[in-house]
Amino acid sequence: MCGIVGYIGNNSIEENLLNNLNLLEYRGYDSAGIAVLENHEIKLTKAVGCINNLKEKIKPSINATIGISHTRWATHGESTIENAHPHVSQNSNWAVVHNGIIENYAELKNDLIKDNFIFKSETDTEVIPQLLQHLDCNNNIKTLIDTCNKLEGSFALAVINKNVSDTLYLAKRKSPLYISANENEIFIASDPICFAGKTETYFALNDDEFCEAKLNNIKFYNSSCETIIKNPIPLNTFEENLGKQNYNHFMLKEIDETSKVLNRIVLTYKDNCVFDKINKDLLNNINKVILIGCGTAYHACLMGAHYLESFARIEARCYISSEFRYSNPIIDNKTLAIFVSQSGETADTLMAHELSKQKGAKTVAITNVLYSTLSKVADYVFPVCAGPEIAVASTKAYSAQVAVLNMFAKYLSNLLRDSKYDYLNDILTLSKNLKILDVENLELLAEDIAKQSSALFIGRNLDHITCEEASLKLKEITYINTHAHPAGELKHGFLAVVEQGTPVFVIATQKALLDKTLNAASEAAARGAKIIVASQFNIEEKNIKNLFYHIKLQEFDEDLMAITAMYSFQMLSYLTSIKRGIDPDKPRNLAKSVTVE
Ligand code: M6R
Repeated sequence: MCGIVGYIGNNSIEENLLNNLNLLEYRGYDSAGIAVLENHEIKLTKAVGCINNLKEKIKPSINATIGISHTRWATHGESTIENAHPHVSQNSNWAVVHNGIIENYAELKNDLIKDNFIFKSETDTEVIPQLLQHLDCNNNIKTLIDTCNKLEGSFALAVINKNVSDTLYLAKRKSPLYISANENEIFIASDPICFAGKTETYFALNDDEFCEAKLNNIKFYNSSCETIIKNPIPLNTFEENLGKQNYNHFMLKEIDETSKVLNRIVLTYKDNCVFDKINKDLLNNINKVILIGCGTAYHACLMGAHYLESFARIEARCYISSEFRYSNPIIDNKTLAIFVSQSGETADTLMAHELSKQKGAKTVAITNVLYSTLSKVADYVFPVCAGPEIAVASTKAYSAQVAVLNMFAKYLSNLLRDSKYDYLNDILTLSKNLKILDVENLELLAEDIAKQSSALFIGRNLDHITCEEASLKLKEITYINTHAHPAGELKHGFLAVVEQGTPVFVIATQKALLDKTLNAASEAAARGAKIIVASQFNIEEKNIKNLFYHIKLQEFDEDLMAITAMYSFQMLSYLTSIKRGIDPDKPRNLAKSVTVE
């Protein structure tokens, strides 16, 4: 959500800023803007919509060597030119790009209006350049620190001042911001992927840290304006190519990478004994396990709780991150709290983590981004090894989260119950054999689903969790109104929406529940539903009424069928999205990384 980039150097400023902005597109945005400093003037260009719209409006500058740029995902005020960043102070001395939310902006704005400041936008951000002007003490870094000390909420800021043509100023609280440099250039970004191929190390700002960056002279400060020393972090090379390669969409590339990711998990967990820190001593002091996440990551939590209960016989409760803080959760220093997040930057998940730490819980982060905030603050980190995931819809990262949780539950079972699960081998087998059967027919099914306005998903137990995730996936990239329910709940209200032709997806991968689930399917069929069953079993012999299609799944251990089932549903969602003419990588209104509450 919102992306910040900055640049100092002699190479084309616009090209550098825009190329890096392109790399942050995955975060989601609805307008973009750029500010460069040329001949002591701040030159602004903004556009609503995609980065290409901005590109078309930019007239390349000749002398500029410093600039900041931004993609905005609207929170305060619609997506308009006025609301797009950068925002500039009334005297045009300061330009600011911001990621986060200033919670006390209304109060600050009222005070500034009383001091005759005029505002042009509806954003919370605009108070920042105005405050910079208001508090300007001719020492730019001090002015920035004084300004930030007045702000409540979250922010990553990149700032330029028209009188200083060689320095970028940065600030961070609860939103990520990174800086990197080579001999001739400085790069600022919300994600270090922007530094790949350009530099070898980078710095990560911590909360309430500030930076004054000029070539060959990068200084860091705390909120008392004292200089601090920070250590550079090596820039990991990314195993996956960051581009789309030969794929039309990132989503397709990422679905395709699942086998490779599962294999990487096996290698990582084999060599590094990642789980070993959760040993018997630690577990002796734990009497409760909770799992917390949002969206797809929450569905992985549900799978994880199921695994913990069925393999390790440990009771586990799941929370949606945004509900956690408001549910007065019972947690203390005997709680193990497991946070699942692909990005490791989801604001609600980070706040839930903060509360858990305050209450004394031991915390585990299951995350894909090892330099993320969640990785830094958690006591233990279990990497999901999915590599960069760019498409808004989570695919390979979900499968990886489920695989790690499955392995962890089996590891705990071996530790506590003397079972002998070969949990690495289970994932290895899956990684070697995972494939979608019958892609051509799946494409025909997608053609039909693309014409629908709603669809239902039913399943029992583990399959119900897969229904929730399959429903979310289809909904978010096709805009079809989908709902998921436990199959046994049909008669308790949900059947009322079934009418002639309503597609009902039935996920049935658990042998013991197969007949019961198919009974529920018959109840829907009797009301005219079009039945689509996803199963590894030979369901043709079951004579299901109105059976429209059987999504044939490969057979694996039943506990891992969730991964193979989702593999097919991710592909079906992708194909349906394409048939509906939607860009599956960037569905409307959604952002990849939800960095505000
Ligand atoms: O980065 P996170 O895993 O914390 O993100 C959580 C959700 O925002 C995310 O899973 C979202 O639901 C995806 N769009 C699902 O495809």
